[in-house]
Amino acid sequence: MKRTFSIIKPDATKRNITGAINKIIEDNELKIVAQKRIQLSREKAEGFYFVHKDKPFFNELIDYMTSGPVIIQVLEGENAIEKYRKIMGATNPQNADSGTIRKEYALNIQENSVHGSDSEENARIEINYFFKEDEIIT
Ligand code: CMP
Repeated sequence: MKRTFSIIKPDATKRNITGAINKIIEDNELKIVAQKRIQLSREKAEGFYFVHKDKPFFNELIDYMTSGPVIIQVLEGENAIEKYRKIMGATNPQNADSGTIRKEYALNIQENSVHGSDSEENARIEINYFFKEDEIIT
């Protein structure tokens, strides 16, 4: 069993579609083993997206990610990282395959409804950035 880190982003919490997104996650045999609804501070969001600090969209990304609550999650399952990336679809919803979360729900490349870790190392770092081990209940 592998774990990945997920964020259901402010565009989705604002539209009350977090349950619809969780249904897609669960229908694809990923188990939500930790989940919290939080308001990100700018500091916490900037730390999370530190790798993007020199990108032209960085400030807008931080504005957006702090514009409303997010749901942070740990997902567990076989090939969790690759599986969740497949279910999410491409970063830009215009390029996402049909049936994916982003094709179905994302508004644009920034307000793209969900985040998922892109590697095992980043999954570990991202999970540890938000959760203590005893908050993950399998
Ligand atoms: P995420 O997978 O969380 O990683 C970085 C985020 O930056 C991305 O999803 C989008 O929400 C946001 N973003 C905004 N503009 C772009 C862009 N041009 N390319 C990639 N990501 C972008």
